[in-house]
Amino acid sequence: METNIDLHASADVNAGIIWIRAGRVLDPATGLDGVRDLWIREGKIEKICMPGEMQEEQGKGVDNNPDSAESGWHVIDARGCYVMPGLIDLHVHLRDPGQEYKEDIETGGRAAARGGFTTICCMANTSPAVDSPETVAYIREKAARVSPVQVIPVGAVTKGLAGRELTDMAALKAAGIGAVSEDGKSVMDASLCKKGMELAKDLGLVTLAHCEHKKMQAGGVMNEGEVSRRLGLPGFCSGAEDIIAARDILLAEETGARLHLCHCSTAGSVELLRAAKKAGLLVTGEACPHHFTLTDEAVDGTDANFKMAPPLRTAADVEAIKRGLADGTLDCISTDHAPHAEFEKAKGMREAPCGIVGLETAVALAISELVRPGLLTPLQLAEKMSFNPARILGIDRGTLEVGAQADVTVIDPEAEYRIDKETFASKGRNTPFHGRRVHGRVRATVVAGIPVFEA
Ligand code: DOR
Ligand code: ZN
Ligand code: ZN
Repeated sequence: METNIDLHASADVNAGIIWIRAGRVLDPATGLDGVRDLWIREGKIEKICMPGEMQEEQGKGVDNNPDSAESGWHVIDARGCYVMPGLIDLHVHLRDPGQEYKEDIETGGRAAARGGFTTICCMANTSPAVDSPETVAYIREKAARVSPVQVIPVGAVTKGLAGRELTDMAALKAAGIGAVSEDGKSVMDASLCKKGMELAKDLGLVTLAHCEHKKMQAGGVMNEGEVSRRLGLPGFCSGAEDIIAARDILLAEETGARLHLCHCSTAGSVELLRAAKKAGLLVTGEACPHHFTLTDEAVDGTDANFKMAPPLRTAADVEAIKRGLADGTLDCISTDHAPHAEFEKAKGMREAPCGIVGLETAVALAISELVRPGLLTPLQLAEKMSFNPARILGIDRGTLEVGAQADVTVIDPEAEYRIDKETFASKGRNTPFHGRRVHGRVRATVVAGIPVFEA
């Protein structure tokens, strides 16, 4: 797939040599899963070889190559770690422009690097919304200056996300968007939604759909069910998600557009996606860590760090999400990183805004909930967090093949610790996972041959 998104050009990056030593290299593009040395030179993957092979070729001993001024090599010791193509998050809220008190492009970019992400897509519900070439240019220009990771803006489907008039998607694409989305809501007018998909299709853009029927969910603050009734809180039914997922799949079928279902949270939407794929439609989908880790039983009615849209669902839904990830129905894991200020989340379940941060906890939750229990292999994790998102966006990332840009993530899957929100690079502290014991720590994030994070 071609794209005109101008990703970090590695050619003019004066990056030196990096030796990522003896990690378990996982490359879904080639199926490679084995212990290798990975060599990076001038921003590109130069060589993947058996541990020590490069030194032998050069007549040097393996341990005579410390990270020294003499060798000029930067060594990342990856023994015991996964070495993956740099992680790509299709779903991030950076709040910039307009709500920089929650997050900005620099802090969000740093949070991404800390979380192992080398490329992130930022959603259009900023202030103003990403509905003009000027705002796209603002994000790209600022990201190039202050973000350690690649930022791809997502354009709005309708002007001001108001659901009335389509944006000039051609102009947005020329300015550098990588996809379109009305995230935060659905385009409720089905005929306008269809026109939006047609336009996106003509421009070669994927539509990222937040599926939520406005009237059906109105007033809801958590999943509708036993727990919401017990707590006396207004519910938000599964049907509000499923009905729009079904509608959007039908529109994708009718238009031939590429559709991607954001943050699938219900058994119903997973089943709809499965059927759509079986029918051969160009539909993909993602799940977020909170939706495969927690159920609505975790909601206590007071802590709004458990409030997000779509909400935490039932155990049966969590099972369906996990099965969907394992059998390939769900293509990606994305975060829906949605930072909010502490004073906003302190308003309680009814009044607080929806959303939780996710960039700095995603890898640990995916390893703890999916890889360690054997639902996903490490190679499949690389597929869901890097290879597949790259294919969905149509960018030449998500692989460690020789010659590719050196976007690499090193993860220690055995590291065990408690999540501590005070260590986050994000301005957002709104996580339901503070204090949770997890396995899996990002050791290094390399973007275009430059280490942007090392633990
Ligand atoms: O929980 C959410 N937060 N869901 C959304 O759809 C929007 C997001 C936000 O922007 O805070
Ligand atoms: Zn959303
Ligand atoms: Zn979102």
